[in-house]
Amino acid sequence: MSLPAPTADNRAVVTGSSSGIGVALAEELASRGYSLILVARREDLLNELAKKLTDRYGITAEVRAVDLSNREQRAPLAKELAERDIAILCNNAGVATFGSLAKLDLDYERDIMELNAVAVHDLSLAVLPNMVERGSGGILVTGSAAGNMPIPNNATYAASKAFTNTWAESLRGEMKEHGVHVTLLAPGPVRTDNPDQEEVGNKIPEFIWVTAAHTAKITIDALARNKMRVVPGLISKGMSLAGQFGPRSITSLVAGAAYKKLGS
Ligand SMILES: NC(=O)c1ccc[n+]([C@@H]2O[C@H](COP(=O)([O-])OP(=O)(O)OC[C@H]3O[C@@H](n4cnc5c(N)ncnc54)[C@H](OP(=O)(O)O)[C@@H]3O)[C@@H](O)[C@H]2O)c1
Repeated sequence: MSLPAPTADNRAVVTGSSSGIGVALAEELASRGYSLILVARREDLLNELAKKLTDRYGITAEVRAVDLSNREQRAPLAKELAERDIAILCNNAGVATFGSLAKLDLDYERDIMELNAVAVHDLSLAVLPNMVERGSGGILVTGSAAGNMPIPNNATYAASKAFTNTWAESLRGEMKEHGVHVTLLAPGPVRTDNPDQEEVGNKIPEFIWVTAAHTAKITIDALARNKMRVVPGLISKGMSLAGQFGPRSITSLVAGAAYKKLGS
């Protein structure tokens, strides 16, 4: 089975499409003819992107300004997605904190779990019944190489991404026989235009980064082929292997020390 072809009625949904990898995913899908539902909190940025992609690719782009970490705001979106013809759902919105939990804002840590893990589960459950009934569809989950290992000084993020990594790869095994593709994007560092990245970015050597546009292209290609996992870039692949196959007591020490620097 391949992904559903774009039609006037169906939509590809991209969460977290007001910046970074989400913008690149939205543009990649628009360039392949998919009309979009763009989701994030910053409505002005979503409207700008919707206009740009509509003008450039002649698609339709709808905007939903929703705080996905807020269950009350998320519920109407989930209901809408359950009722519409969703060809592709890209669960991409996510945020991270760096540093010791003892010094972090605990309410924000709770929001991270809700956004990075619970919302991904929730929106996937919303679109799956229709995809299964149709026998086609695609779900992309943006996890992280950080989800492969314990990372002190990044505990909530790493654990939330352990959920997304495992969720996507497990679901893929179940959905194969229903014609629904599920792919995990589990990157290491991806360079985006997000100004917040500069602070962390300066502490990571330049050669480690891959671009968001490249990441989006290989990710949508992979989703079309129902590939299990996409890890863009050689360095990220190395980090990913170390995370998956290295002894957790050692990776925890090494990654914890590196993330301590990012948090300082
Ligand atoms: N870039 C990397 O190096 C890297 C590496 C590994 C994994 N990832 C993962 O890739 C995904 C995208 O990351 P990125 O680097 O592109 O980050 P980014 O530029 O910060 O984008 C994050 C996106 O998520 C949205 N978002 C944040 N909080 C939200 C909320 N409460 N409700 C709805 N939307 C929300 C943001 O929009 P608003 O602020 O407008 O809501 C934004 O569109 C994330 O899941 C991240 O964990 C990134």
